[in-house]
Amino acid sequence: MKVKIAACLAIVLALLNLPVLASGPKISQVAALSIDRRVDELLSQMTIEEKVGQLNQMFYFTQFMKPEMVEPGIRDGKIGSLLFVTDPALINRFQKVAVEKSRLKIPLLFGFDVIHGFHTIFPVPLALASSWEPGVVEQVQEVAAREARAVGIRWTFAPMVDIARDPRWGRIVEGAGEDPYLGSRMAAAHVRGFQGQDPSSAGRLLACMKHFAGYGAASGGRDYDSAFISDAELYNVYLPPFKAAVDAGVGSAMSAYMDLNDVPATGNAFLLRDVLRKQWGFKGFVVSDADAVGSLVTHGFAEDKSDAAFRAFTAGVDMEMSLPASPISTAYSTSLASLIQEGRVTKELLDESVRRVLEAKFKLGLFENPYVDESQVTTIHNNPEHRRLARVAAQRSMVLLRNEGNVLPLVKGDPKVSSIAVIGPLADSKRDMRGSWSLADDVKRAVTVLEGIRTRLGASIKVEYAQGVDIARLSRSIFDIFNAPRPAAWSETQKREEFEKALSLARSSDAVIMVLGEHEEMSGEAASKSTLDLPGRQLELLKAVSSLGKPVVLVLINGRPLDISWAASHVPAILEAWHPGTEGGNAIADVLYGDAAPGGKLPLTWPRNAGQIPIYYAHNLTQEPETEKKFTSRYWDIPTSPLYPFGYGLSYSTFNFSNLRVSKPEVKLGESVEVLVDVENTGRRSSDEVAQLYIHQRFGSASRPVRELKGFERITLALGEKRTVRFTLGKQELTYWSSASKSWVQDPAVFDLWAGADSTAPLTTTFRVVR
Ligand code: NOJ
Repeated sequence: MKVKIAACLAIVLALLNLPVLASGPKISQVAALSIDRRVDELLSQMTIEEKVGQLNQMFYFTQFMKPEMVEPGIRDGKIGSLLFVTDPALINRFQKVAVEKSRLKIPLLFGFDVIHGFHTIFPVPLALASSWEPGVVEQVQEVAAREARAVGIRWTFAPMVDIARDPRWGRIVEGAGEDPYLGSRMAAAHVRGFQGQDPSSAGRLLACMKHFAGYGAASGGRDYDSAFISDAELYNVYLPPFKAAVDAGVGSAMSAYMDLNDVPATGNAFLLRDVLRKQWGFKGFVVSDADAVGSLVTHGFAEDKSDAAFRAFTAGVDMEMSLPASPISTAYSTSLASLIQEGRVTKELLDESVRRVLEAKFKLGLFENPYVDESQVTTIHNNPEHRRLARVAAQRSMVLLRNEGNVLPLVKGDPKVSSIAVIGPLADSKRDMRGSWSLADDVKRAVTVLEGIRTRLGASIKVEYAQGVDIARLSRSIFDIFNAPRPAAWSETQKREEFEKALSLARSSDAVIMVLGEHEEMSGEAASKSTLDLPGRQLELLKAVSSLGKPVVLVLINGRPLDISWAASHVPAILEAWHPGTEGGNAIADVLYGDAAPGGKLPLTWPRNAGQIPIYYAHNLTQEPETEKKFTSRYWDIPTSPLYPFGYGLSYSTFNFSNLRVSKPEVKLGESVEVLVDVENTGRRSSDEVAQLYIHQRFGSASRPVRELKGFERITLALGEKRTVRFTLGKQELTYWSSASKSWVQDPAVFDLWAGADSTAPLTTTFRVVR
């Protein structure tokens, strides 16, 4: 039915706009051509100022702005897009000014950071990556899109696909971790989830991959700091997730803040023109990060605001994102017109950018349907299916890090346990279940760990709570304006009393669940840290509680790996829950009590402490590979191995990998080889395992990483079930960018393969690629 309507529409449009083509264009071509025509027509009517207006995006903060502050600009065609408006009535109000009062009636495009949910909050992206399940990510972002679209938002600034190998960098929480292959699969899944087949269709959003490119390599993990990335690392590690997003059809891209090899990403023609447009053929539009155009002056790159506009625009940034009342904002709207009059920027270049933005607006159907139906918001937002999905996604994102003596799952009705203490600063905090960028939800809807456990156990067991310690960020967070202030820090007396209270509760209980980690504003943007220590006195509390000899389970709520070395050898069970979202508390209870089995895997290498950073599994071999010198020749004070390897995660069952084989021992350059491995559930219950495939190229035109992930599949196996998992290794998987030849190469070489449950999998075989 839908297809028929679309076909009829396309034909009508074609009749209205198009000359009859002898060969008869396909429907998609017809639609595209008609958009071209409509853009041409509009462009021919626009003044330079109106064109520049389409390239101007402004923040609107309900917290401290009034509609009158932007309405004149909208009416005069000086604003093409607004971000951060989340009230549907206000969206309609602003849209009405654009489409009824402005000269050319061009609709506004409303954007927002829909990162991991809107009204319903899903696990943070790092957690979603821990699911190793692109299908779940896709479903989550489909629902997030639906909820945001319900209020009139049409464009999300997601996914963030920056590879991050430094957990001091707070934004590691927003991405998929350290690995280009996992990152690419996740990037594509996010894009498919947001946009579906077509971002204009019901409930979908236009996606925006960010931050192009290299932002995750900020020196020292300090947010916004310069990144120095070799060509080989850029092409082999940092760019692949962006390429995957482009291949998945992402409609827009955001330029990054930082300097990349001395050239700020927002003024970087190599990135924006050579790579994005020429090499990849990207057809969407590019928006700057907030104030990133004006920041070209701050960077010591552009001379003044006008030069900044010139540099960003000619480098390939189509639209400028501006903060209100910032002196470096609105570089485009204050300078582009004069740059054109002076002949420094050509009219053709201006038209190219405006065309891309208008094209997006036409494709989204904004000219036909500029308004949002306010009556639908509550029904869409309160769809119980959304909460159900949030619960499942959280269950599937959790990673079981330790389970000595099978402490988990806990058993309801265990005769030895009639009281449970739930202890820690994150145990009953609704806000911290959500994670960074939860800016439009109702925090009251979030379920805490304490609430989840109480609901799970009912009245059968006494479940009591003590906070024990308080934790705080030492500096303000840029997100403070969106939340009620945190309670004031405890006095010294209060600190002593609360600590004691927690200990005495633990003493009088049969088992303890400790919930430790970081507040949501401790990771995310402008949230870098110099250590990975558990903030505040959490470790002290954990040690004190553990010394009581009760069974202790540690649940972690956090957006980055933390230094849990002590816990890793003293606390029998550790469950990494990340910031799990609105349904987090219920999902944690599900996993702790075995209603759901943990199957997530780490999307990053978990360091022992911050001194090991950067640490990642896909490093090159050295003259003294670790297996030979047993960790003594590199650091002498701690092992060079991480606390937990990339891809690691336990289960309530056990799995055996066997019979790793290749379809042919030798293939020609360009040919594919099939890799098969048998996986058997040898444990106690039906559970999930993620079968992972790693390769190593033994020699070639350049050194290659000791292992590289090249395939994975999360599978559910019933008790005793055995299944064969298949992977294909072809040209794409075996090609890399060689810094020796400065080109993409596939070498004839011998390859080692490993398949198993994490990046240290021992099961191995080889095959050879020949000319
Ligand atoms: C700055 C952040 O770097 C970016 O990720 C975000 O999308 C924009 N602000 C808009 O909020």
